[in-house]
Amino acid sequence: MLTDLTHVIASDRPRFAYNVTSVEGFLALVDWGETHGKAMVLQCSERYLKDLGEDFFRQLVVPRLDTSPVPFVLHLDHAGSLEAVLKGLQIGFSSVMFDGSTKPLEENIALSREAAKLARMAGVSFEAEVGHVGGAEDGDEDETAMFTRVGDAKAFTAAVPMDFLAVSVGNAHGRYRKPPKIQLNRIADLAAAVPVPLVLHGGTGIPPADLVEATRRGMVKINLGTELKLAWIAGIQSSLAAGEMEPDRIRASARQSITHVIQTMEALLTR
Ligand code: 13P
Repeated sequence: MLTDLTHVIASDRPRFAYNVTSVEGFLALVDWGETHGKAMVLQCSERYLKDLGEDFFRQLVVPRLDTSPVPFVLHLDHAGSLEAVLKGLQIGFSSVMFDGSTKPLEENIALSREAAKLARMAGVSFEAEVGHVGGAEDGDEDETAMFTRVGDAKAFTAAVPMDFLAVSVGNAHGRYRKPPKIQLNRIADLAAAVPVPLVLHGGTGIPPADLVEATRRGMVKINLGTELKLAWIAGIQSSLAAGEMEPDRIRASARQSITHVIQTMEALLTR
């Protein structure tokens, strides 16, 4: 069944949210959730919504998840405009994120409020971001991070009705060029200051011990994207290197490799 984030994630129940960037990834995630009877959070960025196609989500992903006996969240990740939020809601996403974090705080507040209204009207959960998580989101950009200030987080959550808050605490999207330094104290300070649970973007490459500690300090949703892309590539490469020519076997290898990542990550958060 499709459900929203608030039904799956709680402070005593942190979860990974996995970015869907391939059909193999989607199948592996559904299979994992159903095999283990565990609610899973799947999410998709505007870029991969475009790549896989709106109809893929509307006609295949949404009905498939909605008819499953296991709860699944389908979250729209980093919608950059109100039009994108609306489109996600029309497709049937059960949760949305609006990302106005590159804009000045007042503008981010104004736009996020509008996006939150749309999410509320559709009855789905809403995530927004303050401060800015840098790095290469879906490959292209190379943005500079702006760590989330406690005062900004307080003002932002007071002004925007939201269920989850994404923050910048030393995390970055994509591959880290040097080992990440996650600011665990900043996470604890933010968690103590705001009334909504926190989201850690850029899960790929953060040492497992830091991920677990981040959840102890207040992170409830950890986004993982690049790790699954790398697994997909590795699966295909190893299969091709072994001389495989049949697409079903090549895709099965990608799927297995992604399943291995899911298994490893899920074992980290056993709560
Ligand atoms: P990574 O690709 O770095 O794991 O980040 C994913 C993410 O935060 C999507 O919002």
